[in-house]
Amino acid sequence: MIVIGCDHAAVSLKKAIMAHLDEQGIAYMDMGTDGEPCDYPDMAEALCAKITSGEAERGILLCGTGIGMSMAANKIPGIRAAVCSDCFSARYTRLHNDANVLCMGERVIGQGLAVELVDIFLHTDFEGGRHQRRVDKITALENKA
Ligand code: RB5
Repeated sequence: MIVIGCDHAAVSLKKAIMAHLDEQGIAYMDMGTDGEPCDYPDMAEALCAKITSGEAERGILLCGTGIGMSMAANKIPGIRAAVCSDCFSARYTRLHNDANVLCMGERVIGQGLAVELVDIFLHTDFEGGRHQRRVDKITALENKA
């Protein structure tokens, strides 16, 4: 299960991604917003709770830049959020960082590229091995904070 959410700056991009997920038959939970103003940290917190509770495996968070969503999401223990605007980063944040949240900016990238990044993010497995040790060190940082 995937969970998707946005603030008011990324409603069109969220709709385009949901249409793409529908076409692919990929199940998702839509957290909103559908247009009403929304503070991105609130959306990030609500969406990430679906991941940390185990209700969803991965999430997609969208705002104007993707940056605010990623900053907020990365404050939540267990969340590894990556802002991506290129295919290489989307692939490697799965392979090496085991990212569980993809953040993108509607004001930064086009819808065509965004759905391509979603496909890469959803279909690339974590490599594990030496990267597991590094991801474990990220988790250790959460516990030091
Ligand atoms: C909202 O205007 C905008 O600040 C937000 O969508 C996002 O870009 C923040 O990082």
